Amino acid sequence: MKKLIAAASFTAILLASCTPKASTTVAPTGPAVSTSEQLAQGKTIFENSCKRCHGLPDPTAYTSVQWVGIMNSMAPKAKLTDEQHQWVYDYVVSVKK
Ligand code: HEC
Repeated sequence: MKKLIAAASFTAILLASCTPKASTTVAPTGPAVSTSEQLAQGKTIFENSCKRCHGLPDPTAYTSVQWVGIMNSMAPKAKLTDEQHQWVYDYVVSVKK
């Protein structure tokens, strides 16, 4: 029983900490949901779409929270679909260690 409660509250904390504070229709859910194939797609899209207007940004230069905001402003500039937005987000966040 104790275990169940611990697991439930852990999940609640996880959900709370992963929720971007901005109210946006696209809510990146974090790197855990992506398959490696989607991460690879995200990398390709990132490398092809994100260097048109400026140099390719360093994924490790920003926190995952900062990337939420950056992707919310850059995805429309790069004309990404919601899916591509998610994949690129998952990729850049997966790079950082
Ligand atoms: C149509 C042009 C354009 C495209 C495409 C574009 N960007 Fe940008 N980006 C900008 C401009 C302009 C700025 C600086 C002004 C701003 O922050 O809006 C910028 C700034 C940035 C910054 C710095 C933000 C900061 O707060 O320091 C990052 C990181 C970034 N872009 C990432 C990306 C990524 C990732 C993609 C691909 C999904 C992308 N950009 C595609 C125009 C573009």
